[in-house]
Amino acid sequence: MEQIQEQLYNLINEANETTSIAAAQKFNVPVTSLVAAMKSLETMETIVTELQKQQGVRLTAEGEQAVKSSTPEFQILTFLNGQTLHKSKIIEHFGEAFISANLSAALRRKLVTIVSQSKTDTDPQIVPSQTTVDDIQVQLQNLATQAPAQIAGLKKAKYVEQYEEKYFLIKKGPTFSNGLVKPQPELTQADLTSGKPTNIKALNFNALGKPPVSGSLHPLLKMKTAFVQILSQMGFQQMKTEKYVESSFWNFDSLFQPQQHPARDMHDTFFLQNPALADLSKITPEYLQAVKNMHEKGGFQSHGYNYVWAENEAQKNILRTHTTSVSSRFLYQHAQNVQKSGKFTPLKCFSIDRVFRNETLDATHLCEFHQVEGFICDKNLNLGNLMAVIREFFKALGMPQIRFKPCYNPYTEPSMEIFCFHEGLKRWIEVGNSGIFRPEMLRPMGFDEDVVALAWGLSLERPTMIKYHINNIRDLVGPGCDITMIQSCQDILME
Ligand code: PHE
Repeated sequence: MEQIQEQLYNLINEANETTSIAAAQKFNVPVTSLVAAMKSLETMETIVTELQKQQGVRLTAEGEQAVKSSTPEFQILTFLNGQTLHKSKIIEHFGEAFISANLSAALRRKLVTIVSQSKTDTDPQIVPSQTTVDDIQVQLQNLATQAPAQIAGLKKAKYVEQYEEKYFLIKKGPTFSNGLVKPQPELTQADLTSGKPTNIKALNFNALGKPPVSGSLHPLLKMKTAFVQILSQMGFQQMKTEKYVESSFWNFDSLFQPQQHPARDMHDTFFLQNPALADLSKITPEYLQAVKNMHEKGGFQSHGYNYVWAENEAQKNILRTHTTSVSSRFLYQHAQNVQKSGKFTPLKCFSIDRVFRNETLDATHLCEFHQVEGFICDKNLNLGNLMAVIREFFKALGMPQIRFKPCYNPYTEPSMEIFCFHEGLKRWIEVGNSGIFRPEMLRPMGFDEDVVALAWGLSLERPTMIKYHINNIRDLVGPGCDITMIQSCQDILME
């Protein structure tokens, strides 16, 4: 490096200015080494540099090949080696495809001529010319000195291509006249006692520091924090979610999900073996009876499902399949409080925690994931309010592209799936589900007819993948999760 610095210094001294490309060529060193030497002279202010751009031409793969072993058409001439041969002989050597692609160029450049015996001659003779130099190869070898007309021809033949070339213009700097005295990196005792330190290396405030070794919050945690912040600001209170093991009663029955519903199958739900059954004795007999009646016969203008509801089915312990079980418990408690106090108060709640489904793994599904769940319980609410609330918190997350699609849930009517646009996958992805809780769920709890509960459940993983352009869920969690990916994820609400 010191040698290149010296060469560069001398060159500037003679010529006043140069470029990184010209200097590298002159000293016969790679441009990267030249630039390193240049940067270090620049920090001493011996020189100053300016980044420049220009249109350059460079060899394509075909061009490189032609430089090495001459153009394909010239190879035909070389093969003839002064002899006239039948076309079939040349094909035998080069192959049909090579000859049909390159013989016409050989003719055009008059490297060879064709002599046919008759009009119908299928195997004419190929006669070599006296040419000994492949002028195209020579042009390519001396690309830098070619005139524009030649360059245009080479470009047309796809031997060269245009590109934007960046280089530095290098000139004398303010300390150039000091010469190439290597500045001292630090103060010495002599400098201090003399009181006049000379040539001390200037500090480079533009140098990039070493990135500190540090941990980083996982994107799911960032998304969770953002949701908590946004929903709290919107006036929601967070529900306790510590129960991974839940009874089928709260997960399904209280939500008016019939006992023969396919979601209650072993293929969809993880059932517990030990303890297999939950203790439902803490639930008031009135509520259990009201749920049973609703499933069997209906009521409040509903027809129910018309089957015999079995308490032991409701007792089955499972890993909760959604946090709607948490919402159901909270709403039931709220209905009890309202009844006790005789006065209705609205309630807005949310939760964020883990749920479990017996799913086949793929790019967007895991058997364990997180749900962001919420409800608003009040009077005079409608679907428009629900859509507005959902739009609002996605907008706050910086994801304004939302769509709704009608769907079916046993516990909501109407129901809507929620879709977000994924820039990476370039398609709309389902991020959640929502709806208005059915009277068949709310009335047995003890709510009056005019009480409405808007509700929604989102996966935490999907919006996180959309936000950070992650295409495969296995890049987000599990052994495929990469620390550099985690570190590259910006904080959501600070952007
Ligand atoms: N429980 C639903 C799910 O798991 C989400 C949901 C919650 C839908 C509340 C409607 C109302 O997908």
